[in-house]
This record gives sequence, C-alpha cells and structure tokens, in this order.
Amino acid sequence: MIQSSVIFTLTFHKHFVIYEVRGGNYMESLISTAESQNPQTSDSPYSANDTQSQYTLQIKLRSSVVEEFFDVPRMKIHRWEEAGKIQAGHEEHGSRKIRYFDAENVRKMVDLLGRKQNVDGTYTYAIWHNKGGVGKSTVVFQLATMMSTLMGLKVLVIDTDGQADTTHLFNAEQEVPLDTDDFIDQRSICDILYDLMDPHNHTEESLKESFEDTKKTILPGLDLIPSDDRVVELDYDIRELKGKGIITEEKGDESFDLSSVALLKKFISFVQETYDYDVILIDCSPDLGDMNVNVLFAADCLLIPVELEPKAPHSLKRVYNRLIKLAKMHESFSFEKLLIVPNMNERHDVKAVVQTRIRDMLPNFSSRITLTKTTTVVKAIGQRLPIFNYQDPNAKWMAKIPEPAKRLTNELWDLCHEMLNLEEPKPDHHGLFKPKGITNAQ
Ligand SMILES: Nc1ncnc2c1ncn2[C@@H]1O[C@H](COP(=O)(O)OP(=O)(O)O)[C@@H](O)[C@H]1O
Ligand SMILES: [Mg+2]
Repeated sequence: MIQSSVIFTLTFHKHFVIYEVRGGNYMESLISTAESQNPQTSDSPYSANDTQSQYTLQIKLRSSVVEEFFDVPRMKIHRWEEAGKIQAGHEEHGSRKIRYFDAENVRKMVDLLGRKQNVDGTYTYAIWHNKGGVGKSTVVFQLATMMSTLMGLKVLVIDTDGQADTTHLFNAEQEVPLDTDDFIDQRSICDILYDLMDPHNHTEESLKESFEDTKKTILPGLDLIPSDDRVVELDYDIRELKGKGIITEEKGDESFDLSSVALLKKFISFVQETYDYDVILIDCSPDLGDMNVNVLFAADCLLIPVELEPKAPHSLKRVYNRLIKLAKMHESFSFEKLLIVPNMNERHDVKAVVQTRIRDMLPNFSSRITLTKTTTVVKAIGQRLPIFNYQDPNAKWMAKIPEPAKRLTNELWDLCHEMLNLEEPKPDHHGLFKPKGITNAQ
C-alpha cells in the first residue's frame, strides 16, 4: 500500500488525492462488510454436516442405488441387516422414508460381497500438471472417495497445494471466523516438512507424532494431510536446504546431498513402511516449484489430467521434457507408471484431434480412459459429495443417479482399475464389481 502510494505520488501527483479517497472508501466498506457478516449464520453452499460424526464428509447411498451398484438382491441386504452385519440409516423425504447406507456400511458390504480389492504395497500417485484448472483437485476428490468407499481400500490424500482446494473440498479446513483476526493454526503438510528440516526429527517416534498430529480422518478408510497458504514460503525454505546435508544418499564412496529434493520422500517412505495404506494420492499446485519437485521425487506414479485444448500437446511436451531432465539430474528419480488422462472431454472434432495428437506423441503414457465434462460433478462437489453419490435434488423420487453422473462414475471406476493395475472389470461378469445399472450408461 505504502509502496504504491509512493509510486503514485511520483508519477501521477495530480491524482494522488483521488486515489487515496477512493482507496480509503473502498477499504472502509470492505472492512465494514466483513465486520457485519456473521459467519455462524451465513448460508453455506454446502449441505449441513452431522456435527456428531467423527468424519468430515458424509456419504449416504440409497439402498436402491446400492442394490443397483453392487448388483445385489434386496433380500441379501435384508439378511445382512437382520444378522446385524450392516445397518441402514433412514431419512424422511415428505411422506417417504428413504433407506440409505453410510460409507462405513458400504465398505462392510464390499467386504461381505468379497469384492474388496487386493492391492500389493502402496501406490503413491502425484496428480500433477504444470497447468491450473485441469481438474487435479476434482480428480483427487473423486478417486479418493471412490477407492475408499466403493473399493474398500485404505487411502491417504496429501494436499500440497497452497490454495488448499482439496483440503476445502474434504471439509477439513480450519474454520476461522471472518470477524476475528485469528489465523489458521491447524497443522498441515507445511508443519510436517518444517519438522523434517531438523534431522533430530527423523526418528520413527518423531515422524509418527508429526503424522498423527496432522492427519484428519475424512471418511472410513480415507485420511488427509491438509495444506495451507504457507506452501509459498515453504517452497523458498526448501530451496535454501540445498547442500545442508539433512538428507543424503550414499553411493559407493560418494555421498549425494538430496536435502532440497527428498524431504517429502523421507516422510512418504516412512508412511509407506509404517501404515497399511493401499493408495497415497498427492494433489499439487500447477507449477514446478521446489515443493512439486519434492512431490515428483516422492511419488512412484504420476497422473496428469489434461484438458483437450489445441495447445495441450505443447504443454505436455514441456512437462515431459522437464521430467526427463529431472531424471537425468538425479539417479533416484523415476516413475513406475505415468498416465495422461484427458478430463472435461466433450464430443467435439477439435478435442478428438488433440487427443489423437497426444496419443501419437506419448503412446505409452496415454490412459485408456477419458473423463467426460459434466455439470453434475460441479454440483456434486458443491454439496461435498462424490459423483457416485450425486442425486438431483429436484428429481421426483430422488432414487436414480442422472445419466451423466453414471457415465463419469463409470469412467472414474475404470480409471481406478487402470491406476492400480487391477483386473479390468467386465460387464455382467459374475464375481467382478461392475455396477449393473451403470454398465449400460455409455
Ligand atoms: N469432468 C469435469 N466436468 C466438469 N467440470 C469439471 C470436471 N472436472 C473438473 N471440473 C471443474 O473444473 C474446475 C477446475 O477443477 P480443479 O479440480 O479445481 O482443477 P485444478 O485442481 O487442476 O486447478 C472446477 O470448477 C471443477 O469443478
Ligand atoms: Mg487444484
């Protein structure tokens, strides 16, 4: 503010007074608006959460949808309920009483059906692109909720984006009232990495404490390490670690300093060895700052969502060259799997041409899945619901999932399988989970 006033005084002296008056009025009105708002009573765009719940998200799959999803007869579900193996919840909708199953009971059903997926070790995926708005956070949200609830897997999401969109989507943001000067003091990935900058904190107990104090449980089988806006400072502080000898790698007689690139890897290796997560999904900011170099070092697999716009192949080529450069610089930099996934696809000639160009350019890394653009995903996220739990609130019977939501559910389902090298689900093949009602949605 002071700086801009000085510049203004020097260059536009005559207008200085007007500027100050305008600026003053504007700020005053901004502050008084903030003060007049009571965040406790303001309408939230999100559905109200059960304050009693130990989880930050709530999934309620209607029993008719569960039957359709799992291709399981109603009688079978009733028998499990009678035996006390699962429990339905109930909700009044006008004169209708709707039965639903929460995430915990859906997971139990997946287990009872023998459809819990077996995953070897821990898949650690970075969801990254050098570009914003391609759907990274949306994809992370959808994959994490689907893998944990519908596949019965244990998932950890790590938000490393300073925008903390994923933390927000998972309803895991610390609430700071707008009418106070308080700042967020919830622990985040930043605290974990700052802890690690002191080698004394590299012991198993310290790492465990750092992780347990930061982790938030979102749903059964789904934990989150939140982020916050200190990532920008952290990025700079990580760079300053170069050559400090905090993390080194010995090769023969030589010692290599990896302090500024392997800080996150140190933490993730500990989590992989100590806990039984099947999948770790890391959401990233759209840049190649030092935090993201750390993410790329720590991840074993990389998923790049892209929008099929004309310049997409060029951006991807740059990303690809950057990865090659990092791999040449550091021997320990490698990926087991790299998947380029087009998102927000529409039936359009240009999109098809761009997709073909990407496939021709990087054939080994192009996912077989394309995610469709649909406003249902935006609406679902607005209610903090995964797409497979989205129901049009205006639909009369509220029991059916809209076709576009089914379609995207299907695509994400196939993507989960591709990511985790699981057997491809075949329609109508007994013993394999392919939601019956969703199979014919294409
Ligand atoms: N398949 C999709 N169909 C429609 N809108 C989508 C889809 N995927 C993402 N979006 C929307 O695009 C916007 C950007 O997505 P976001 O996940 O925040 O991107 P990023 O994390 O890459 O910046 C959001 O408004 C999101 O709801
Ligand atoms: Mg994002």
